[in-house]
Amino acid sequence: MLIAGRLIMDATTNPQPGWLRIEGDRIIDVEEGDPPSRPDVGGPDHVVTPGFVDCHLHFPQFDAIGVDGLPLLDWLKATVYPAEHAWRDPAWAQIQSQQAVRRLLREGTLGCAAYLTSHPHAIAAARHALGETPLRAIVGRVMMDREAPPDLCSTAADPEPWIEADRPDSRTQTAVTPRFAIACSDAMLARAGELAPGRFVQTHLGEQQAEIDRTLEFYPDDASYTAVYDRFGLLHERALLGHCVHLASDEWELLRRRRGVAVHCPQANIFLQSGLFDLDAAREHGVRVALGSDIAAGSDASMPRVARAMIETAKARRLTVAPKAAIPTPGEAWNMVTRDNAAALGYDDGGVLRPGAAADLLILRPPFDIDEHLIGRLLYNWSTDFIVHRVLAGRVVSDS
Ligand code: GUN
Ligand code: ZN
Repeated sequence: MLIAGRLIMDATTNPQPGWLRIEGDRIIDVEEGDPPSRPDVGGPDHVVTPGFVDCHLHFPQFDAIGVDGLPLLDWLKATVYPAEHAWRDPAWAQIQSQQAVRRLLREGTLGCAAYLTSHPHAIAAARHALGETPLRAIVGRVMMDREAPPDLCSTAADPEPWIEADRPDSRTQTAVTPRFAIACSDAMLARAGELAPGRFVQTHLGEQQAEIDRTLEFYPDDASYTAVYDRFGLLHERALLGHCVHLASDEWELLRRRRGVAVHCPQANIFLQSGLFDLDAAREHGVRVALGSDIAAGSDASMPRVARAMIETAKARRLTVAPKAAIPTPGEAWNMVTRDNAAALGYDDGGVLRPGAAADLLILRPPFDIDEHLIGRLLYNWSTDFIVHRVLAGRVVSDS
């Protein structure tokens, strides 16, 4: 398949006209200039970008979007746990997984890390939905054994598996997913720690002050919330730590040492009034940052909108508490939701347009003239209507 258009190779430089060729599930050739023959897809008014990657969302929570006005711990009880409770029905879990996958595809998200529920059938439901598409996903059965409705709680000794062995032919992997320290006893975090080596771990960290206070009531002997996870062996280069809004300097330092990833969820942090993520602190401490929609605290599964919210959060910090806050450019933000997020999920061959890379990309046709402000215009005008084709594992897929 031959595809032509402006190629977003590195969004911090102005995309030039070019073409690429796909064979099987790989990009085999990428060149600037005119295509060697009539392209199968695209043309001079098209733009080719790597697909988006969402590093933090909850498949069962799409129906919970929009219940406003509650702080995190009350919102979980009033809104999130009832939505997750509905997954006790395996058929419903499967339908909702299918809806989540379709929604992601429609938004141009071609890779994700997602929380499911604590039900033993949750992974099978998600695998079934994901198996119908080549979307790349890391999914996790949620581990929790307290401070949640009993039917959503399990025990550390649960005989049903928390994770599955990676299948070489599968684009779905499973992650160790302790919900957060409040909902996990020592025994549950210890079980998560046993499973953690070499696996993706996803959890929440430092989202709201009341959550931190409650965590330290449960874990009074630990130096910090981050230190709790560290004691149980949950922090390593495959740890995806959602939010990280309220971290002290020693916690950033610990994350740097362990090579964990802070997953910034800017829309969710505004919706639940959690706070303004400190991108400068993450950068100063050399902590990797990825971006997540965090559906349902975030209301928008569109990663360009999440990228925009990251820029707006940085601007809000600059206008209020941090006059020297660095503001990411649209190009940096676009790179974050494509190649940086792909790298955070271990997709070393994803999120980029280069020979040998996975052919997971989007062909866009924006309704404005293409000029040197292309990435900013895409980001600030963004609509899924710009997406004319989604290419997944080398195949054009429909979003329905
Ligand atoms: N902390 C623990 N669980 C959740 C969740 O489902 N959403 C958010 N935003 N924070 C959490
Ligand atoms: Zn979350």
